[in-house]
Amino acid sequence: MHFPARSVAESQSEMTELILPNDTNTLNNLLGGRLMHFIDLVGAMAAYRHSRTHVVTASMDHIDFIAPVHVGDLLILKSSLNRAFNTSMEVGVKVWVENTIAGTHRHVASAYLTFVAVDSQGRRVPVPKVQPETEEEKRRYEDAGRRRELRQKELELKRAARKGEIEVQGSVRPGRV
Ligand SMILES: CC(C)(COP(=O)(O)OP(=O)(O)OC[C@H]1O[C@@H](n2cnc3c(N)ncnc32)[C@H](O)[C@@H]1OP(=O)(O)O)[C@@H](O)C(=O)NCCC(=O)NCCS
Repeated sequence: MHFPARSVAESQSEMTELILPNDTNTLNNLLGGRLMHFIDLVGAMAAYRHSRTHVVTASMDHIDFIAPVHVGDLLILKSSLNRAFNTSMEVGVKVWVENTIAGTHRHVASAYLTFVAVDSQGRRVPVPKVQPETEEEKRRYEDAGRRRELRQKELELKRAARKGEIEVQGSVRPGRV
């Protein structure tokens, strides 16, 4: 099936969250896992808008937590579809924190995620290509191709290492790895 290419702007997404005590650790800073959850959500929004079907997260690349986010801060997350392949899409997410009192902004994290498009039965489906328009979009498009090659090599190595592993029967007991 052939779909017309879509622009990056068509699927760009944004999400703003007020960080409350329930999102934080014992130092009143945002939990890393909670931030990853927000990143997954805003990334999925762009993937949904691009593919207009169901999507599942296949992977999230390495992520650095550059600076802490404090309770009461506003978290601003933006996602952009860097490139679509066959059934998968790479989405870039950038996160800023806004100090609500000072009105200042700081970049706190970035991540690349890969989403795979599936139908309602969970079967993989092809996605439209992306048409990068600006210089920045073209650079991200090329970079996404290089990252895909690296991911594929890493996946092959992991799959080869897993070969021969036996599926665990019954319960996975604590302490057993
Ligand atoms: C992601 C998933 C659909 C891939 O299925 P698969 O049978 O391994 O598929 P394939 O190896 O044939 O790869 C299919 C596509 O996914 C991509 N892909 C698969 N694993 C990937 C990974 N770890 N990282 C990035 N891309 C990946 C492939 O490059 C391929 O892309 P393309 O169609 O654009 O060429 C499958 O592993 C899955 O359903 N995982 C669980 C997803 C989920 O539940 N996520 C929520 C977290 S709990």
